[in-house]
Amino acid sequence: MLIAEGLRKRFGDREAVAGVGFEIAPGEIYGLLGPNGAGKTTTISMITGVLPRDGGRVSVDGIDLDTGPPARRRIGLVPQAITLYQDLTARENLLFWGRMYELRGSALDSAVDEALEAVGLADRAADRVGTFSGGMQRRLNLVAGLLHGPGLLTLDEPTAGVDPQSRSAIFDLLERLRDDGMAILYTTHYMEEAERLCDRIGIIDGGRLIAEGTRRELIAQLDDDARIELAFTGGHASERSEAVAKTVPGVRQAHWNGEHLAVFAEDGSRCLPGLLSAMLEADLPPARIEVVEPDLEDVFLELTGRALRD
Ligand SMILES: Nc1ncnc2c1ncn2[C@@H]1O[C@H](COP(=O)(O)OP(=O)(O)O)[C@@H](O)[C@H]1O
Ligand SMILES: [Mg+2]
Repeated sequence: MLIAEGLRKRFGDREAVAGVGFEIAPGEIYGLLGPNGAGKTTTISMITGVLPRDGGRVSVDGIDLDTGPPARRRIGLVPQAITLYQDLTARENLLFWGRMYELRGSALDSAVDEALEAVGLADRAADRVGTFSGGMQRRLNLVAGLLHGPGLLTLDEPTAGVDPQSRSAIFDLLERLRDDGMAILYTTHYMEEAERLCDRIGIIDGGRLIAEGTRRELIAQLDDDARIELAFTGGHASERSEAVAKTVPGVRQAHWNGEHLAVFAEDGSRCLPGLLSAMLEADLPPARIEVVEPDLEDVFLELTGRALRD
């Protein structure tokens, strides 16, 4: 449904996106996972035609994006910011967006009814959006991008500032849309969201796609590697433990996240004895040591030496 190739965007002398490409099939949720500033919004903006590209190609449902309206009509866009009029009711907002997508008459009315139903807001249709919670506004913002029945839905961090109930309502809706054959592009900096929701994940950092695959495939890249977590009593452990861990043979990466030290080791837990004696020698006795099953955070850490979470 989507083919993006070699996307590039430069702002001044900063290359925000430096050759990103991926494909999304109908019935697939593709997650673009990366830290703040990685280039997610810039990428999604080029794919939806909101931002001109410096290079690369985009086609949607076999139609080149540069044909304009024929390709754009196949794309639904849910932007990072809420684009609703606070003084209008939920229904009035959707009628507005539906008209923007050139829907009219009974087609418009039924699209709006369906959309309100889909996110559980039918009984609030006549209420002003200004009276809605953040989560309700997010849900309404989401279906505004669906009114014209796009084949590709793009969402830029749609759960920012959302309560757990609304988040799970959003996930349920996206899974229903996926099961009905929609292709979905979802950006997030939350690893847990990408793991739970996405069929395939592209990890983006510094404007480049540094890994891609299913969750299982990405984690399989780590082979027999393990993450070992060490917690310390007292406040003196801090970043010093990171430097100590990096001197231990078999340790690939170590990262102090403010609470514990995450050590990334070849060959599973075999470096545990070395790690423990190095810590004791450095006068950093661990209060807890745990070998944890690797997750996407570890893939990112292994590839970049940095943590995905802020
Ligand atoms: N309009 C802009 N002008 C200048 N720099 C920008 C602009 N938009 C984004 N950037 C820069 O491009 C990089 C990628 O930004 P963005 O795509 O927003 O990342 P993300 O959505 O992953 O947080 C960042 O370094 C950001 O500061
Ligand atoms: Mg962004």
